[in-house]
Amino acid sequence: MGEAPEDDGRLAIDGGRKTRAEPYPAWPQPAPEDEEAVAAVVRSGGWCSAAKGQATVRAFEEAFAAAHRGPADGTPPLDCVAVASGTAALIVALGAVGVAPGDEVIVPPYTFIATASACLFLGAVPVFADIDPATFCLDPDAVARAWSPRTRAVVPVHFAGCPADLPALVALCRQRGAALVEDACQAPGAAWDGRPVGSWGDLACFSFQESKNLSAGEGGAITGRGEALEVAWSLHNVGRSRAGAWYGHERIGQNARMTALQAALLLSQMRRWPDQARRRIAAAERLSARLAGVPGITPCTPPAGVTAHAWHLFPFMYDPQAFGGRPRADLVAALQAEGIPASAGYTLLSDNEALQEAAFANAARAGTPAPPRGSAHLPVAATAARQACWLFHTALLAGDSGVDDVVRAVAKIQRAWGGR
Ligand SMILES: Cc1ncc(COP(=O)(O)O)c(C=O)c1O
Repeated sequence: MGEAPEDDGRLAIDGGRKTRAEPYPAWPQPAPEDEEAVAAVVRSGGWCSAAKGQATVRAFEEAFAAAHRGPADGTPPLDCVAVASGTAALIVALGAVGVAPGDEVIVPPYTFIATASACLFLGAVPVFADIDPATFCLDPDAVARAWSPRTRAVVPVHFAGCPADLPALVALCRQRGAALVEDACQAPGAAWDGRPVGSWGDLACFSFQESKNLSAGEGGAITGRGEALEVAWSLHNVGRSRAGAWYGHERIGQNARMTALQAALLLSQMRRWPDQARRRIAAAERLSARLAGVPGITPCTPPAGVTAHAWHLFPFMYDPQAFGGRPRADLVAALQAEGIPASAGYTLLSDNEALQEAAFANAARAGTPAPPRGSAHLPVAATAARQACWLFHTALLAGDSGVDDVVRAVAKIQRAWGGR
């Protein structure tokens, strides 16, 4: 059997030729300097941040904090605690701002489960608020509506690398007296009005899991200042304090420390990160512009306040009407067959049984009212979970041709399905 001819219009999923035969760049992208950085730590025997590996982990913490510090604003400089994962960062950070049994934490339902599950480990209850249709980030008005006297913290997710509306959320949390913990797991380097994410909230959490824009396989970080960050440091290091004794445990904490091997890998990755970030931004802007005229495809649009977008994902809404009525699952399968790294994305956390049961159990134990069940009050998130698609950031790392292949694949699918 020969290869399908290029221009017979048949989709790759139907046996036609792929739009993009050359794979998009792999992720992560190991480089010789990464190997050398990790090997140097291996050779040194300084593997643990609480012992001989401290200097390596501290060097990463300082570099990461410096990258998110932003303009001086009279507050103490931003600092960082490196941890084992984004999930660990969220649990530690929420503990550090005082989340405890009986409290509620407002979260979006359209996110990775750890955003919502972290507070369950502290005995608290996640309460879902709807998202903004333009960005899929937490909608400040919906947060205000979800508020109760038990609201102790709000956790906006900078979804896909796009900052949530930080000025509005900071103002709301200050006015009503709750902590703001940014879930910046997908957004290192993003900024609103020139001020980086990670520097707005009481604390902020990052992930360095393998798929992330900065990766060490696993890993995480908490950024913040002052007392909250000191408590986070203690909670991630089995309750020790920086100045205290090895066996002096001042509170009950976990071991959520990052290893020096991860820190060395991250420091090495950080050298290539600014260039990768620039390439993602250029590609995402080109892709947004080229998809603007395509019926049935509506890319998320960052608000004017977003001065840097991390583009961990490129999300868009899909309207089957413009594609001959074919469901989203068909679009994702057809894009993948064309060689485009597409995904249907999240399911709604507000429909997750395990999460709901744990939330109800925590509320019952604390004797507080149960949170709303289900997703009827979350129409925007429900639509996103049903109709949104994502492209992985690797689609943005192949320059203009990588972008143009996405557009060609979408057009080919639309033609084949009689969409236009
Ligand atoms: C929005 C969000 N929050 C939290 C996490 C959890 O991070 P990790 O996988 O490092 O535990 C992730 C990543 O997986 C994420 O995308």
